[in-house]
Amino acid sequence: MKKIIVLVGATGDLGGRIVKVLLEKGAEVRAIVRVNTDPEKIQKLEKMGVSVFKVDMSDAQAMSKHFSDASCVVSALAGLRDVIIDTQKAVLDAAIMAKVPRFIPSDFSLDFTNLEVGKNRNLDLRREFYQYLDASSIAPTSIFNGPFMELLTGPMPMILDKQKWILYWGNADQMLDFTTMDNTATFTANVALDDETPRFLRIAGDRITPRQMVKIVSEVREKEFSLFRAGSIGLINFIIKMMKFFSPSEKDLYPIWQGMQYMRDMMEGRAKIDYYDHNRYSDIEWTGIKDLLLEYEATKDNKTE
Ligand SMILES: NC(=O)c1ccc[n+]([C@@H]2O[C@H](COP(=O)([O-])OP(=O)(O)OC[C@H]3O[C@@H](n4cnc5c(N)ncnc54)[C@H](OP(=O)(O)O)[C@@H]3O)[C@@H](O)[C@H]2O)c1
Repeated sequence: MKKIIVLVGATGDLGGRIVKVLLEKGAEVRAIVRVNTDPEKIQKLEKMGVSVFKVDMSDAQAMSKHFSDASCVVSALAGLRDVIIDTQKAVLDAAIMAKVPRFIPSDFSLDFTNLEVGKNRNLDLRREFYQYLDASSIAPTSIFNGPFMELLTGPMPMILDKQKWILYWGNADQMLDFTTMDNTATFTANVALDDETPRFLRIAGDRITPRQMVKIVSEVREKEFSLFRAGSIGLINFIIKMMKFFSPSEKDLYPIWQGMQYMRDMMEGRAKIDYYDHNRYSDIEWTGIKDLLLEYEATKDNKTE
């Protein structure tokens, strides 16, 4: 019999990728979307074969009707308190009402179990949701994948092309974990279909220090990059404080100081993964940083041709 997996956040970037793998694996996928979700996104899901239900996502009772016989609920929602705490709580209540046995919260982040409380706003919200989740009767599994590897070719200020620098804070030999969105999605789909998962699972498609990154980026870009130490961990902490004070942007999901909080947590070593679970499923080909950068170079060249 087909396993039924319910997704919230299926219209998002990561959620859409999880849906695709679940369908390839033969699961029945139901997506709960909000009443005002873009109809084009809904149509796209329906065309893929997903049953989509438009529901008031603050109404657990209304959502729970669509959760019957599901074996797992996956949340790939993105947002601040109203989403990570309030909406996820309602989704969790709906899952419990419908007797769904398992729940995957929308973590997909650095491993924050070792981070200091109060130092990373977005991850503190997830930790706060755990208090509710862990007190419930459902079996939760959180997935920690480090930063998405794609951020290296986008908003993460680490590979600075113009200056030919690899920027880092603190220690150039700090090991950093990265995983692509597709690898994270495939792993998550496997976890959703696996009835025997622990509370936490940790993965990294590749790990690298800033010093090692100089070598790889220089090879891929065919230019000599060098290390640039922006400052100590103490200095980045001070800059975060100043930025939060002068430009709080509390309503933005990713203000600059939030990006710096992620960067500080990686560079400080507190989020480093010591035990990896990525051999748990045999169908995943892990993308390395060099592969991702080469692919990016190739597509960039194609676009400029
Ligand atoms: N580790 C990393 O480096 C990294 C990087 C980026 C994201 N992430 C994490 O990955 C997860 C998914 O992120 P994403 O980038 O895929 O997000 P995304 O593309 O922005 O998608 C967000 C999803 O959440 C839904 N949503 C947003 N606000 C909502 C609300 N108020 N009520 C109900 N649904 C709401 C959206 O629905 P609509 O279509 O209706 O708007 C959409 O389905 C999040 O946990 C995020 O923090 C991790």
